[in-house]
Amino acid sequence: MCGIIGYVGKKPSSEVLLEGLKRLEYRGYDSAGICVDSPEGFKIIKSTGKLKNLLAIVPPRPFGHNGIGHTRWATHGGVTESNAHPHTDCSGKIAIVHNGIIENYEKLRELLKDKGHSLKSDTDTEVIAHLIEQCYKGDLTKAVLETVSLLKGTYGLVVMHQDHPDMMVGARNGSPLIMGVGDGEMFLASDASAIISYTKQVIYLQDGEIVTVTPESFQTMDLDENIINKDIDIIEWQAESFEKAGYDHYMLKEIYEQSESIVRGMKGRLDRTHATGHLGGLNMTTEELLKVERVVIIAAGTSYHAGLVAAYLLESMAGIPAHAEIASELRYRNPIIEKNTLYFAISQSGETMDTLYAMRELQRKGARVLGICNVVGSTIARESDGGVYIHSGPEIAVASTKAFTSQMTAMYIFTLIMARLRNMSFEDGLEFIDEMEAVPEKLKTIFKSAPKIEAIAKKYCHTESFLFLGRGINYPVAMEGALKLKEISYIHAEGFSAAEIKHGPIALINEKTPSLFLVTDDRLHDKIISNMKEVKSRGGKIIAVAAEGDKDVYGIADDVIEVPKTVEYIYPFLMSIPLQLLAYYSALELGRDVDQPKNLAKSVTVE
Ligand code: G6P
Repeated sequence: MCGIIGYVGKKPSSEVLLEGLKRLEYRGYDSAGICVDSPEGFKIIKSTGKLKNLLAIVPPRPFGHNGIGHTRWATHGGVTESNAHPHTDCSGKIAIVHNGIIENYEKLRELLKDKGHSLKSDTDTEVIAHLIEQCYKGDLTKAVLETVSLLKGTYGLVVMHQDHPDMMVGARNGSPLIMGVGDGEMFLASDASAIISYTKQVIYLQDGEIVTVTPESFQTMDLDENIINKDIDIIEWQAESFEKAGYDHYMLKEIYEQSESIVRGMKGRLDRTHATGHLGGLNMTTEELLKVERVVIIAAGTSYHAGLVAAYLLESMAGIPAHAEIASELRYRNPIIEKNTLYFAISQSGETMDTLYAMRELQRKGARVLGICNVVGSTIARESDGGVYIHSGPEIAVASTKAFTSQMTAMYIFTLIMARLRNMSFEDGLEFIDEMEAVPEKLKTIFKSAPKIEAIAKKYCHTESFLFLGRGINYPVAMEGALKLKEISYIHAEGFSAAEIKHGPIALINEKTPSLFLVTDDRLHDKIISNMKEVKSRGGKIIAVAAEGDKDVYGIADDVIEVPKTVEYIYPFLMSIPLQLLAYYSALELGRDVDQPKNLAKSVTVE
């Protein structure tokens, strides 16, 4: 979703802004722009489409020392140059970039028009620039303070004024904004990726905070003008981890990284002495954990699928009733908060608005919500009552891969803790640890099948529709496989329980619609084989992802991808990899933009 970068300092700001925007591309956008100071006034350059269009019209020689930049993901108003940010007031002296949605913008627009302002775009953002103009009496911070008190909705905002060179004002409510502290330079950005190559010192602004920034100083206050002293945090991620490291796409790099990211997520968290796990951030005592009678997981997209796997495992292994729910649905159905129910909000970005607002609603009703996040310092991570960082490293590709398996890793360790407090024996706990620790090597074996998976992708990717079928704990993996394929290849794909197809989806089966079955060698094996036969007998093409050595699948499936044998509950880790690679190679073959698929955003900060 929209990205923000602001800079004051001695470096040529056009360069810093363009570099920052490049780093923000992954969030998803459809236009971009910058505003840079210059002796002749602001230079505003905007363009629709990809950043390369903007780069083509920015003067090659870097210029300016102060500026703001933005990648826009259209919400109010189409994808046009005039709707792209930065936006200005009537005088052209005030320029702003904004993430979020101003809900009362139509009313404000009318008000401004009545006062003689002329607005040039269809956006909600532009009204903010004109309101600041209206409120400005020589003090930019005061004008921004007054303006935000008139806004209803969400904003991450950066403002600059020609009469205040070397100064920016940032404000946050509902859309992330962080400040980067450099040596004689300061940054404001929607996320750390934009500034990590310049500084690792950051300050996370909270909702209702406003910051005034110069190259040497900053001052943070609340909306009542009370000064707030903020701590500087250090970003742990390395700037290099934002690079493609020789891979053609971030997605491919992130798929391959899983053999390491899962290890990182387990490091120091598995305890062989007591055959259990340790998750320090849960902030819960053993007594509190023992009181938990139900677990409810809320999330969106891929994180929701990780939540479904986790709920299945919690019930079957720890004997705790558990279910996962789409956050946006939970939020609006007036959920009943039961005593002794523990909630989890799973979110890679930690900024997904649906999940964040559902979490706040639960907390408002007195629930304890733990966060499972990747991005350190993200809103969900900070506002949750405790939680776990999954440590998968920055995930740049819009389609989530390594975060999925790392989210599962964190929830598997939580399950181990809960199971060992209840019904799991020491030996079974040790076996669980053994199986978890064996996953990374097993993934490496699966990576060797990449050429075969690529060939299968090429064979089937010209289809219009694809079914993904799994059972038990692999049913959510089938849903995730379908999501991956549709996200980046734009092929229509659905994930179903293999048993459920006879209740409807089987009507779709024909020789043109392939079905991908997840065939495990556990208690559900024979049932899945029967489901495959149901499809086969109706002329459907079948791809099987199966445990190695499973002879039953060869007579039925048209193509087979083998994964190493494991125990039932570990298959979701192994089965996910071929599905991610299948989606990747299908998108590649179809010439899609793998890392930045159309219409999608990495971090969805609107409802
Ligand atoms: C967007 C992304 C998905 C992601 C979902 C939830 O839709 O495109 O890849 O799974 O948001 O994101 P989160 O950051 O909350 O895990």
